Amino acid sequence: MRSIDDLDVAGQRVLLRCDLNVPLDKSGSGTITDDGRIRASLPVIRKLAARGARVVIMAHLGRPKGATFEECAAGGPSLRVVAERLSELLGQPVAFATDLVGPSAEATVAGLSDGGVALLENVRFEPAETSKDEAERSALAASLAKIGDLYVGDGFGVVHRKQASVYDLPKLLPHAAGDLVTAEVSVLRRLTESPDRPYVVVLGGSKVSDKLGVIGNLLKVADRLLIGGGMTYTFLAAQGHEVGTSLLEKDQIETVQGILADAAQRGVEIVLPTDIVAATGFAPDAEHEVVPAGGIPADRMGLDIGPDSRALFATKLADAKTVFWNGPMGVFEFPAFAAGTRAVAEALTKVDGLTVVGGGDSAAAVRSFGLADDAFGHISTGGGASLEYLEGKTLPGLVALG
Ligand code: 3PG
Ligand code: MG
Repeated sequence: MRSIDDLDVAGQRVLLRCDLNVPLDKSGSGTITDDGRIRASLPVIRKLAARGARVVIMAHLGRPKGATFEECAAGGPSLRVVAERLSELLGQPVAFATDLVGPSAEATVAGLSDGGVALLENVRFEPAETSKDEAERSALAASLAKIGDLYVGDGFGVVHRKQASVYDLPKLLPHAAGDLVTAEVSVLRRLTESPDRPYVVVLGGSKVSDKLGVIGNLLKVADRLLIGGGMTYTFLAAQGHEVGTSLLEKDQIETVQGILADAAQRGVEIVLPTDIVAATGFAPDAEHEVVPAGGIPADRMGLDIGPDSRALFATKLADAKTVFWNGPMGVFEFPAFAAGTRAVAEALTKVDGLTVVGGGDSAAAVRSFGLADDAFGHISTGGGASLEYLEGKTLPGLVALG
């Protein structure tokens, strides 16, 4: 991959794809609850601006719905709040264009001077951005290419998406990878090539089906797999346990049984929680108690791993030389069900080796506990992207960058 140091950017309009997909407060107030991805994009923006580029940032926020730009824009979310935060963090104005390929974008870009920074509105407001139809995506890419001279891909969290601003646009302009993408890839490569052992992977989060691919592949490289979060219950069900009203993907039970058998055959240790914090419902103040993992009452749902499991997971992490962690152990957004995720985060800070935290939720959890970013080897800005990289998949955004 070419780096931005290979591009002569002075006086050039640089279309810079970032991942500024930050979590917003659930109440709809538009407050950014974790600005980690904006901060992670500051170095490339600063570097380009310092070299005299006219920096035109493209980014997405959420998954807007609608058949036209107008419909999507009406439903939001708009990137305007991100432009404001970015401007505060950069300490310089960030011009905001209310469209992507319309008069506002044209005027905003034309108004930039060397070293100036602009952000275009949510690129997913253009339905063609995420279209499966290559001709539609290419047409949008061609329109975007008219307002830029060069392209820099630095949105690591979105490189697993075959989308116009990620995959099609770099084909049309001289391009390079940004420093964040380069740094993320070099850390993940260490995990796939020759990890120091024991190599322990901790997987949480809600959807088993999203992570089965990566589990299948990780069995070939990891020594130990710790399972928490919503996935736990499909694993417990696969072992024949009652899981009450917990999240359960029935159609994945058989696949999970296959994974357990494969792991046993390969000598990979799969560690499941031994106890569960079981609640009467999905709410911050739901009544709850700790029960054995094999005995979740029929009217209760597991919302976190229990104290024995936290100690067990900490023990299973203590001798690790490489750790990759993706996905919270419970509903950490509710303080009553955050202890499992906190315990894993704290155990990681004690590991003497390379620790990688992947994904928006895990990173946000780490920061919400007040743990310093530098207590971890690397906090990846990509969740799905880092998992797909570890799974051995081809990532369209990296392919496009060469
Ligand atoms: C993410 O948050 O995982 C990335 O920004 C990609 O977003 P997406 O899952 O909506 O494509
Ligand atoms: Mg995602």
